[in-house]
Amino acid sequence: MIAILALFQLFQGLGKGDCQENWQCGNAPFSICQSKLNVYRGIGFDEESGQLIFMGKFNGSNGPVGATHIVQMPKTGGSISSKFPILSDIEQGSGYSFAYMLNAWLTKSNVAWISAAQRMAPAVGPYNPTTKTLEGIWYTRGFNLGLLFDEINSRTFVCEFDVNRYNLIPKVIEDRFIAPITMYRGQQCRFLGVVGNDLYLASMQYGEESVSTTIFKGSINCVNCTAANLVSFMVFPDEISAFHVSSTHFYFGGRRVYSPTYSGIWTVPISGDLSQLRFLVSDKIQSMVVDAAQQYVYYQTDDNVFKSASIQGNHPIVTTLYSEHSPSASGSCACAPGFTGATCSTCDGRVRWVDGNPQCVKLLANGNPETCFYDWECNNPPYTYCSGQCQCRNNFVGDRCDQCFGTIEWSYGYPSCNVPGI
Ligand SMILES: *[C@@H]1O[C@H](CO)[C@@H](O)[C@H](O)[C@H]1NC(C)=O
Ligand SMILES: *[C@@H]1O[C@H](CO)[C@@H](O)[C@H](O)[C@H]1NC(C)=O
Repeated sequence: MIAILALFQLFQGLGKGDCQENWQCGNAPFSICQSKLNVYRGIGFDEESGQLIFMGKFNGSNGPVGATHIVQMPKTGGSISSKFPILSDIEQGSGYSFAYMLNAWLTKSNVAWISAAQRMAPAVGPYNPTTKTLEGIWYTRGFNLGLLFDEINSRTFVCEFDVNRYNLIPKVIEDRFIAPITMYRGQQCRFLGVVGNDLYLASMQYGEESVSTTIFKGSINCVNCTAANLVSFMVFPDEISAFHVSSTHFYFGGRRVYSPTYSGIWTVPISGDLSQLRFLVSDKIQSMVVDAAQQYVYYQTDDNVFKSASIQGNHPIVTTLYSEHSPSASGSCACAPGFTGATCSTCDGRVRWVDGNPQCVKLLANGNPETCFYDWECNNPPYTYCSGQCQCRNNFVGDRCDQCFGTIEWSYGYPSCNVPGI
């Protein structure tokens, strides 16, 4: 309830309406004027509400400020509004983690899958705005992750080191280990599509000065199969950045490089007959969603313009829905992250300054901040340290992390707890 109230205050409660500059919102820098959105990669479509979903950081007067937001915009264009902020970002320190891409929007469960940059490997998973956590399900290093969610049948198809199927939509990392079904062992891919029992995989092959994309066809019922059980269905002479299969067509989004001819969105009937290949638009494509029922594609160009194109007929009607480059309309007043109240000066926690901008960080019951950037933010260093959250050093326990059921040794000013048998 408190969270809902806080959100309400954050986005509607200021009552100061339109703005151009932070100072117009009353109490800068605790109040900010959120104007143009700096867009990150990725687009989603909420079929139920007809809204396009994407993410980014709003500009204040002096550039990007505040949290990254998942935002929505009517599919016909119009104003952008925040659905929720991503409050799991740790902008600095060794435990940094910040969201940089929207992988998918799940319409039925209202869940955003995002990627967050981290020191070891980017985490990919669902973000929970209530608990303010990103649940890392996959950590992508050394392989291409391809994800296809089938919410209706509660299935997830995944390109990882193998092509796998899960008969659920993962919510926590443990779900990944509940009976994954290996479909094509040793096969990697970047995108997947499913029509009935047919599985389509898009896999890129990089040569020295060329790249091509092969579409393989298989069956979702193949268990423990190998690449030899796949049919090479079609070869597309460039890299693709987006892929969709409807019951009648393939849609490819291209952005590049070796053959600029292939920048754009293309469609080919699902028979794979390349002679019927058709160009829809010629923009460089970063991400795309297809509303096959309504015969529209929605896409994000390389330079962060969102557009729609009708699929029907010979001449697609292209409409620009949002551009990062068009002059800014007015923004709206909001509180700096975590602050509430009519003047945005209420902080139920501790104030942290980041590049001259304040954030209000909640404190946990043990007195530590909910998130941290550096060790000194944690209670009782050097028994504690910060890795995104405050932690006890290895084997230390207790509220103050200074209990050791063994012997403590000091080295360079840091304690270590040696427990016999561990
Ligand atoms: C946000 O502000 C920065 C710095 O003033 C500017 O370079 C950038 O283009 C702005 N972004 C948008 C989307 O207008
Ligand atoms: C799948 O193949 C692996 C390796 O060949 C084998 O160990 C495993 O038992 C097989 N699983 C099934 C369900 O056939």
